[in-house]
Amino acid sequence: MPVNTKNRILPSEITPPEVYFNRRLFMQAGLVAGAGLALPAAADAIPAAHRRLGELRPSPFSTDEAPNTFEEISTYNNFYEFGTGKSDPVRLSHRFNPRPWSVRVDGECDKGGDITLEDLLAPHPLEERIYRLRCVEAWSMVVPWVGFPLGDLLKRFEPNSRAKYVAFETVYRPEEMPGQRARIIDWPYVEGLRMDEAMHPLTILAVGIYGVELPNQNGAPLRLVVPWKYGFKSIKSIVRISFVEEEPPTSWSLSAPREYGFYANVNPEVDHPRWSQARERRIGAGFFAGRQPTLMFNGYAEDVASLYAGMDLQRQF
Ligand code: MTE
Repeated sequence: MPVNTKNRILPSEITPPEVYFNRRLFMQAGLVAGAGLALPAAADAIPAAHRRLGELRPSPFSTDEAPNTFEEISTYNNFYEFGTGKSDPVRLSHRFNPRPWSVRVDGECDKGGDITLEDLLAPHPLEERIYRLRCVEAWSMVVPWVGFPLGDLLKRFEPNSRAKYVAFETVYRPEEMPGQRARIIDWPYVEGLRMDEAMHPLTILAVGIYGVELPNQNGAPLRLVVPWKYGFKSIKSIVRISFVEEEPPTSWSLSAPREYGFYANVNPEVDHPRWSQARERRIGAGFFAGRQPTLMFNGYAEDVASLYAGMDLQRQF
């Protein structure tokens, strides 16, 4: 699959987490030393409780836009299993225990079965990929995700010729996920991709942000990231992946089919029935930055537009 590398930085140009954290500290040190005060506590950006993820390969798929801060990425979330407010997930996810973890892979494949998180990760060099996440509610962030291509994992299970779609399911643990004790949606949260979307090199399974394991509120220990689609496709805390023949049901198209389609490709020309999708607000950009125009396929059109050739994107939204 051709992947555009224009406007992307070379791996050698990407700043590894060690360096940007140090740069941050360096800048603080400069400021603080100048003011004649004591140095602030080290690594302020990332609470020490988050385990680092070893060696990371910078990815040529990254955008060169400035990433949002760890704090922004981990305190403004959509994760209805922990409540519908943006600050509910960080406040209410501390009882969720994402270890040990295993994922069931089943359906139209020759080598299905249960796989532990460790076995699932073992053959994959982890990459840092700085991708945009654009939510259907018209806000966006730039996130240094840590993950690997979903397609690399799927191939190991040897999907057969009837595998036309991939369905995903989030864990169901109402005792640890207070939002699941209310009928906000039909639990568990489910999502799906067409096989070619799932195999596209931009589609990743993420296990971290900013070089550390995913915080619970961001979908620990394993979530999808599909950067050209609205954020609701990026299902969190995945426990099941199924190869299926028919388009699978998805949580948002089940609960509001007129508002949320299966494809959910970011498209400034297809409005949500209740609001425009033409512009977005970058979290953390400040009040005066205003809203920026939303890009077709969230800026990844050169890579993914061909997947939808001949489709009516107004109807198949
Ligand atoms: N996955 C599950 N299981 N439950 C959710 O409520 N929300 C989705 C998606 N994945 C959601 C989910 C939505 S609407 C968005 S925008 C992204 O997660 C937000 O990801 P973030 O909180 O890491 O920014």
